[in-house]
Amino acid sequence: MKILLTGGTGYIGSHTAVELLENGYEVEILDNLFNSKKTVLDDIEKITGIKPKFHEVDLLDMPAVEKVFEEGNFDLVMHFAGLKAVGESVEKPLKYYENNVGGTINLLKCMEKSRVKRIVFSSSATVYGNQGVAELTEEMQTGVGITNPYGETKHIIEELLKDVSESDSEFEATILRYFNPVGAHSSGFLGEDPNDIPNNLMPIIMKVSIGEIKELSVYGDDYDTIDGTGVRDYIHVVDLAKGHVAALKKMGPGVSIYNLGTGKGTSVFEMISAFEKASGKKLPYKVVERRPGDLAEMYANPNKANQELDWHTELSIEDAMNDTINYLRHIEKK
Ligand code: NAD
Ligand code: UFG
Repeated sequence: MKILLTGGTGYIGSHTAVELLENGYEVEILDNLFNSKKTVLDDIEKITGIKPKFHEVDLLDMPAVEKVFEEGNFDLVMHFAGLKAVGESVEKPLKYYENNVGGTINLLKCMEKSRVKRIVFSSSATVYGNQGVAELTEEMQTGVGITNPYGETKHIIEELLKDVSESDSEFEATILRYFNPVGAHSSGFLGEDPNDIPNNLMPIIMKVSIGEIKELSVYGDDYDTIDGTGVRDYIHVVDLAKGHVAALKKMGPGVSIYNLGTGKGTSVFEMISAFEKASGKKLPYKVVERRPGDLAEMYANPNKANQELDWHTELSIEDAMNDTINYLRHIEKK
């Protein structure tokens, strides 16, 4: 089976490429390298022995995407490509709607033209908005109370996929709602290496630990949680990548939706302690105001993916911290 990974040189796409290649799938990657580097292809080769065919193409460049499909003969698309900086999406909404929604429309048009009927889409727990409860299940109503344009684009794309599915009974879409991906490949070759200043907790912890950022700002310690800091469901990126392989095996007509998370919440202070324990170093931080739009606590109910996909997370926060530190050593040496 031949699979096109849009955004496949990015953090989650590259880990998924490794899992797919190790399971015998043929992989090609399309990415505009906006938030990733071409050297990731060499790193994938170091782990798997295979260097995927690469198309440096922007999804907004319709003729170029069409060409990739004309030559590709793909069986399925995994669609990771997208912009993901929540704060930037508030300042530049048009850029986010154009890139994420516009890019997906172009992709779906090319898929239609080339009669590629199967897609796995990288959605996010952000589509749940504020449900008033921390544990999130797939059947909850989505799209209400999303606080930023990035999250809106994920919700719109989910609706778009449902509408395309209504119009074509052969269309198969699997929507994967990721919780908070962390960690790196145990080889140390792949990890999260954003091209610009990150705004998620784990990449900021990484930059603080190597001295690129002075200290971590903890956004509030007065939430109604175990220690007052925000609680999230941090999932090891390799477990997340394996979730894609599991989802692929169970695809069928219509739209299927799965949470990919561990089912367990971890606070910011617990994340800091886990990093300090793994690295043996203190992590400088200060507590500041809450970040607007943040929820106190959210975590997945992963039962549907556990049962229907026969997929379970296997790696812990400690594994994620150890793998992150190993990856940091690798990139420091480069
Ligand atoms: P990433 O930025 O590392 O990877 C995304 C890749 O898409 C990048 O390599 C980027 O260059 C590419 N890209 C962006 N716009 C493109 C375009 N128009 N044409 C071609 N390539 C383009 O991000 P990631 O963390 O690997 O996330 C992958 C997907 O998962 C994204 O859709 C993201 O929204 C979603 N997601 C991520 C998280 C997270 O916390 N990392 C959580 C939930 C959902
Ligand atoms: N946090 C800090 N300081 C920081 C960054 C984050 O204290 O510098 C805290 C946040 O307040 C939150 C937790 O760490 O409590 C996690 O924050 P992230 O920004 O890493 O993650 P979010 O859960 O806010 O958002 C992420 C992605 C979204 C995605 C969402 C749900 O950024 O794209 O997870 O999956 F939609």
